[in-house]
Amino acid sequence: MLDALESGLSGDNLSVFRCLRDRALKQSHPIYVVGGPVRDFLLGVPIRDLDFVVEGDGPELARWLAERLGGEVRVHPRFGTSTLVSGSCRVDVVTARKEVYPKPGALPQVTPGTISDDLARRDFAINALALPLTEKRPEIMDLHGGIDDLRQGVIRILHPKSFEDDPTRIFRAIRYEQRLGFDLEPDTLDFLNAAVAQGHIASLTGDRIRHELEKILDEDHPELSLNKAAVLGILEKIHPALGEKEAVDRLDALVAGTHTGDDGQKGITHLTYIGALVYSLSEIQAEEIIHRISAPGAWSRVIREVMSLKSREDALARDDISSSQLADIVGGYSAEAVLVFARLTKLPIVSERLALYSERLRHIGPALTGNDLLELGVLEGPELGRLLRQLREAKLEGTVSTEEDERRWVQERMPKAHE
Ligand code: CTP
Repeated sequence: MLDALESGLSGDNLSVFRCLRDRALKQSHPIYVVGGPVRDFLLGVPIRDLDFVVEGDGPELARWLAERLGGEVRVHPRFGTSTLVSGSCRVDVVTARKEVYPKPGALPQVTPGTISDDLARRDFAINALALPLTEKRPEIMDLHGGIDDLRQGVIRILHPKSFEDDPTRIFRAIRYEQRLGFDLEPDTLDFLNAAVAQGHIASLTGDRIRHELEKILDEDHPELSLNKAAVLGILEKIHPALGEKEAVDRLDALVAGTHTGDDGQKGITHLTYIGALVYSLSEIQAEEIIHRISAPGAWSRVIREVMSLKSREDALARDDISSSQLADIVGGYSAEAVLVFARLTKLPIVSERLALYSERLRHIGPALTGNDLLELGVLEGPELGRLLRQLREAKLEGTVSTEEDERRWVQERMPKAHE
C-alpha cells in the first residue's frame, strides 16, 4: 500500500515522504499520511499536497524535516499545526488532536490526542482516512467508513453537529461534491440544509468565508460549486442580494462564452467569477459584500469596476460613439471587468463594442513616443501631450496607420518655426 502511494509521488513530495517514512520506522511517535492524499490515492487521481499527523510534536517534526530538506516552516502553536514549504511542495505536519467547538462558527479549542481522535474531528468520512508510516505493511485506518463512501461516491459528515460546529464545511461539502462528481449523502444534505436555514454561515468571519470562496475558485470548475451554493441558498446567506436566481444564469453565461469562444475572449479568472456574481447588485450592496467577505484589493477593484461600467452602459450604447471615445471610456478598466460586462450586458451593441475594444482597439496606439515627437521638433510641454493624445485618436479612428503616416501627421500639426 505504502509503495503504491509512494509510486504516485515525485519531486519534493517524494523526498518528504521518504524522509518521514524513514523517521517513522526509527522513532516511537507514530506518523500517518492523512486526509486528501489518502483519499486521492484511493481514487487514483493525482496527489496534490501531503498532509501528515503525528502522535507527538507536529511543529518539531516539520522543523526536523526542514533541516534535512530545506524550506520554511510556519507554525500555529494554538492548533499544533505547521506547514513546511519546500521547493514546489507544501506539506502540513500536525499534532494529532481533539477539538471542542465552544460555539457555532468559532475556532475550536484543541488538545493533543490520538490518531482516532484526530480522524473523528474531521469533516467528512472520505477525508477521515489515515495510512500509518510506522508499520512495515500498513493498512489504511478507516474508522468512519470512508472507503465505502469513496466506492459509493458520497460525501458524509461524521456527526450531526459537524456543519454547526464548523460552517466552513458547508462550502467544503459542495466543493468536494462538485470536484469529485459525488453526491451529498441524504442525512448530510438534511443537516447541511438545516445549518444553512439556521443561519450558521452568519457566524463565520469575512476572512473565513473568503478563504472558502478562494478554495472554490481554485477548482477546475468553480461555476459548478458556485451554482450549487446558489441553489442551496448558501450564497444568499453571505448576502441576501446574492440569492437571486439570475446569479446562476450569469455564471453559466460567463463560462459559456469561453467554451464556444463566440467573442474570441478568453481569460476567465477568479476575478471574472467575482464580477459575474455581483453584476446585478446595486453599488451599496456591492460595498456591503466587499465588507462582508473582507474582499482583498483585487476583488474590491473588479467589483467596483463592474458597478462603474454598468453605470456607463448608456454611453457605451450611443449611436454616434467613435472608436476613440469607446477607448476613452473602457481604457481605464481592467480586462476582467470588461470581460464580465461584455458577457453579461443585455445590450448586444455594448457587448459587440466591448469585444471590439478588447480584441482590436486595446492594442492600437501610436508607434511614435514622446521622445520621437521631441526629435521631430515638438517642444516639451502641454503641446506634446496634446499631440500624442490626438495622434492616438487618429490611429483609433483609422485616419493614420503606418509610422510614416504618423510622422507626417505630426509634422503637419507642429507649430511652424516662424509662427
Ligand atoms: N478539515 C476538516 N475540517 C475543515 C477543514 C479541514 O476536517 N473545516 C480536515 C479534512 O480532513 C481535510 C484536512 O483537514 O482532509 C486538510 O484540509 P485542507 O487542507 O483544507 O484540505 P486540502 O488539503 O486543501 O485538500 P483537498 O481540497 O484536496 O482535500
